[in-house]
Amino acid sequence: MPSVHVHPLVVRIAHWINALAVLIMITSGWQIYNASPLFDFTFPGTVTLGGWLAAGILWHFAAMWLLVVNGVVYVTYGLVSGHFRRKLLPISPRAVLKDVGAALRGRLAHENLAVYNAAQRAAYLALIVCLAILVASGLAIWKPVQLHPLALLFGDYEGARYVHFFAMVAVALIVLVHVVMVILVPRTFPSMFTGRIHEKA
Ligand code: HEM
Repeated sequence: MPSVHVHPLVVRIAHWINALAVLIMITSGWQIYNASPLFDFTFPGTVTLGGWLAAGILWHFAAMWLLVVNGVVYVTYGLVSGHFRRKLLPISPRAVLKDVGAALRGRLAHENLAVYNAAQRAAYLALIVCLAILVASGLAIWKPVQLHPLALLFGDYEGARYVHFFAMVAVALIVLVHVVMVILVPRTFPSMFTGRIHEKA
């Protein structure tokens, strides 16, 4: 069966480092949240990382460097090599609505897996934007005095906490849908390791 090259090596390495960093950031973030909840609930200990506040913070900061350095490499590569332009653009609200509608009815075509459909493009772009917002609001919470202008961008320190929380919710939900889509179209999974995808016979 012939195969085509779909994912450059840089993208594959960055993707898996990113997936690990996001998993650590979210679960350790839930641990930190539990020490001072914004809402009327806390996260169960079984899904939090660290065991207690100080260890949660250590995990959060360690993974933050991984996420930021890896993110800078991925975004720089995406912009400079034309990867983003080729794979994530063009995109229009009409095409996204059409493909999301087709996906919900189980009618989204997966003939050419070398090209992302509009729903995928929107999801990947939204993930990149939400992760940038997460990092910016996280920096504002971490150094609210030194980075006061950044905190002001989110209203104030409290505002930055809410933005940080809801950007996490957005990332978690999009990743959940993303993983469900991978399970529904399993041929895509090995391609994120090998870079190649087998065309349907
Ligand atoms: C266990 C979890 C994950 C699995 C199994 C997974 C799997 C995949 C696969 C198979 C693709 C290629 C899709 C295709 O060719 O049609 C992909 C692409 C992508 N995934 Fe994931 N993923 C996971 C977690 C994540 C996370 C946590 C993020 C970000 C927060 C993420 C962001 C992306 C992005 C942005 C792309 C497009 C990459 C590009 O072409 O530049 N993924 N993922």
